[in-house]
Amino acid sequence: MSFIRCDQTVAWAALQGHWQAHGRDLDLRTLFAADPTRVDRLTIQAPGVLGDLSRAKWDVATARHLFDLARECRLPERRDAMFRGDVVNCSEGRAALHTALRAPKGRAPFSEQVHAVLDRMLAFVEQIRASAGGSQAGDIHDVVNIGIGGSDLGPQMVVPALDPFVHPRLRFHFVSNVDGHDLAEVLRQVDARHTLFIVASKTFTTLETMANALAAKQWFLDQGGQDIARHFVATTTNVDAAAAFGITTTFGFWDWVGGRFSMWSPIGLPIALALGAEHFKEMLAGAHAMDEHFASAPLASNLPMCLGLLDVWYRNFHGYASRCVAPYHHGLRRLPTYLQQLVMESNGKGVDSHGQALTYSTSEVVWGEPGTNGQHAFFQMLHQGTDVIPVDFILIKRPTYGDEPPMSAGLRRLLDQQHVTLLANGVAQAQALMWGKGTDEAEQEARPPTASATMPARELALQRTFPGNRPSLTLVLDQLNPRSLGALVALYEHRTFVTGALWGINSFDQWGVELGKVLCKDVAARMQSGDVSGVDAATAAMIQRLR
Ligand code: F6P
Repeated sequence: MSFIRCDQTVAWAALQGHWQAHGRDLDLRTLFAADPTRVDRLTIQAPGVLGDLSRAKWDVATARHLFDLARECRLPERRDAMFRGDVVNCSEGRAALHTALRAPKGRAPFSEQVHAVLDRMLAFVEQIRASAGGSQAGDIHDVVNIGIGGSDLGPQMVVPALDPFVHPRLRFHFVSNVDGHDLAEVLRQVDARHTLFIVASKTFTTLETMANALAAKQWFLDQGGQDIARHFVATTTNVDAAAAFGITTTFGFWDWVGGRFSMWSPIGLPIALALGAEHFKEMLAGAHAMDEHFASAPLASNLPMCLGLLDVWYRNFHGYASRCVAPYHHGLRRLPTYLQQLVMESNGKGVDSHGQALTYSTSEVVWGEPGTNGQHAFFQMLHQGTDVIPVDFILIKRPTYGDEPPMSAGLRRLLDQQHVTLLANGVAQAQALMWGKGTDEAEQEARPPTASATMPARELALQRTFPGNRPSLTLVLDQLNPRSLGALVALYEHRTFVTGALWGINSFDQWGVELGKVLCKDVAARMQSGDVSGVDAATAAMIQRLR
């Protein structure tokens, strides 16, 4: 499908005019004072996730121009093309049909294949779970997922996020790094008779995964293990390569599943093993509900659309170079890392889908830590630093601690109180970022007896001033469960697609990771041989230093 790049539209020129006229001077405090309906107007209830976009730096005119931009860039048509299975990943000649992986039977392309594999995988899952923790050889206690990037980050994020739902007699480990310390640390903790290794690789050629899989197999044989068929499974599109490796239990998938969009496919096997078939299906259903919202809600009440449009407004007009993700839930501690791949591998591109150089910035840097820990590390910079960094606050209304071991009423009361404190922190941080604190107010506080003895009150007040007017958005989930987490991840996927589509880039390829892989092969050979002829001086010196 042909596309129109954002900078070639009338709406872009109108946005530039709006920016010059007053868009750059928007002050959240003034916007709230002028419009008592702002919160209601800018709160969107999507399935499983409520988005409060009232603290985003936009007004009615900004929104109007952004929606014009979406229409002019044919965003709804491009979204529909993705759902339909058109070849939206042009540089690899593929569709991007992660939405088909979570659609009910008969409701999306490739439904028959998708559900056949899903059913087979979930039957396997139930079989493993039924004897998990048992004492017979072959009963599984530990699951070791060997994979990297999209074949690691989704399961590694979801399993701890849904900890209360995880099978109580299964432990999960994730080995990704080619650094042997990663695997060695896990192997120390497991027993070959009770361990299931999942070799997860879309291509089944990835250096790190192949190296770790080979080492894991060696360890298994060294331990006297024989039943490879029971202890090794593969999740891949390259079924032949898995067979050549000696794995007979394979769950295959398709080239139209992008690595970073693949946790819904057999790459999600560790998630399914952890949660069981019903909860895995719940996660798919939550994502599907978000897909339907994205596919059908009008622009102004379409949460992924609005978030993606705001990202473009922030990146290309405000010039914000990064975005902080602050999930106020310990379970979501791996979410920022997961989103780094999703956003930066998708949209960190410098040319459009036709190879034309872009004249505007693309992917922001995504980073973050769970609250409240981040508050004691980098929030200082968010409040008073020279750069403005929008924050995604993710708040979970009700806690889920799980039922095992049973908790006393007293302990539950204390933990519930901690949950209130946790949420209060998230709310207060967004409040502080927006309102800030003026110098006069700070000076009142800085007067004796609290004033420092070594500094005049005014100078101290200036140190204690907060500029405010710092934007954030808040996503609220009622509870962190398979369904709501599925919806949250799908929301971020679609937001990423929207931003990439407006920028006119292919969000589904990742050529930028290839060069390093190729050069690594050459460097590795030279580190063995010591031959540095024809290599640049810096690389040659480093090779020699490390030999
Ligand atoms: O880092 C590049 C990449 O190709 C990612 O896109 C992908 O998720 C990861 O490597 C792993 O690839 P595979 O699943 O083929 O092992």
